[in-house]
Amino acid sequence: MRIAHVASEMAPFAKVGGLGDVVLGLCRELQTQGHQPTVVLPLYGTLDRTVLGPLRRLDQCDSTVGDSTIWSTDYEGLPLWLIEPKDGSFDRPSIYGWPDDVERFSQFSQAAWRWLARQPLDLIHCHDWQTACLTPLAAGKMPTLLTLHNIDYQGACAPEQLEPLGLLNEDNCLRAGIRAASHIAAVSPTYSREIQTPLGGRGLDALLRSRSQQLSPVLNGIDTTYWNPATDPLLTSHLDPDGPLPFKWANREALSNRLGLRFDPSRPLVGVVARLVPQKGIALIQAALRHTLQQGGQFVLLGSCGSPEIQAQFESLQEGPDLQLCLTHDEATAHQIFAASDLFLVPSLFEPCGLTQLIALHYGAIPLVRRTGGLADTIFDLEHEANGNGFVFDDPTPPAICATLSRALHRWHHTPQDWTTWVRQAMRQDVSWRRSATTYANLYEQLVDSN
Ligand code: GLC
Repeated sequence: MRIAHVASEMAPFAKVGGLGDVVLGLCRELQTQGHQPTVVLPLYGTLDRTVLGPLRRLDQCDSTVGDSTIWSTDYEGLPLWLIEPKDGSFDRPSIYGWPDDVERFSQFSQAAWRWLARQPLDLIHCHDWQTACLTPLAAGKMPTLLTLHNIDYQGACAPEQLEPLGLLNEDNCLRAGIRAASHIAAVSPTYSREIQTPLGGRGLDALLRSRSQQLSPVLNGIDTTYWNPATDPLLTSHLDPDGPLPFKWANREALSNRLGLRFDPSRPLVGVVARLVPQKGIALIQAALRHTLQQGGQFVLLGSCGSPEIQAQFESLQEGPDLQLCLTHDEATAHQIFAASDLFLVPSLFEPCGLTQLIALHYGAIPLVRRTGGLADTIFDLEHEANGNGFVFDDPTPPAICATLSRALHRWHHTPQDWTTWVRQAMRQDVSWRRSATTYANLYEQLVDSN
């Protein structure tokens, strides 16, 4: 299958969140399975070109589409087409957060379609609102699949903003995309159900219900070549045949020394790695942090804050030998927290899929999650469910997370052998893209056949 993935992010060089990881991880696995994915991205001014192959301007007569230039290159053998609008609208210090985001990404989507329409392709795979409005342009001409990573962001706009694309009376990029895509995917089964309800649908539930026959859940995986505890270059100690315990302890010691935590094997280490935005359950994280310290545990948190208020809340907390906060994203520290932590918290208010709970399993940190979205589909309670691999709570309240945290810490202290078994099992679980990439490939085939 020849598939173009049109997206606003790709890890590691144009990444804000999980979307970027998914585009890279899925495409790599599709390549492994013998398909030919190409990723289409804006040529951001901030893009680190040193990690890319040489940029070639596609210099045929059709090299510029509208007001954009198309470049081709690759990232570690994965082919890329980069689209550079002549007005410089992607030459900005950040990917999102500009008043003209809808114009920038709809222009990108249109340029991408004009280019892709002339390429030998089987299908176009779009991701989230930023590229959703490509699907109406391709309707009837080429099959499209639209994956919903997070419908909280929709690209709402004034109708005039989408008129240049030939879309009349549309005031929402995601809505236009959902309506026109040949097929839609949601990143987990529970999320796929949640977004069809008034509570989770964010105004799109009726439309999604009307398209439920063309809506499939496809659970995300993680890129296990990048997230590999046996080789990860951002770790000081690697997993070896002696098993998970030496791995966990060595990384715990290294992280403690680096961050100024006291290295004390008699205390459990609880970790969080998240963008600190309301979705991630800020009040629950803070309650868990206090509870961990009260119970004699240690806590480490990494994440950039989504607002000055959230930043101020975390900055007011007193760091010490048992608490370290890193309020900015740092990839190496993230890897080291996964490797060092005993428990890893993901108390999201909602979570379409979530990738960090999967990385945590893979690095031997037992996840403690709220039962919502993809967290509900990937983490099961070790004390209550047969296929347990973590700890799960329901109510988005401090007492609920603290009660579950107490259960987990109790097991860490009093049944260390069980804990070791759980860590071993967690690290053996298949969290790779293998199965889900096959699911996507089967969907592609069905769409091409029925076209
Ligand atoms: C978004 C969602 C997250 C999901 C990711 C990749 O960031 O919030 O839950 O895992 O996209 O699909």
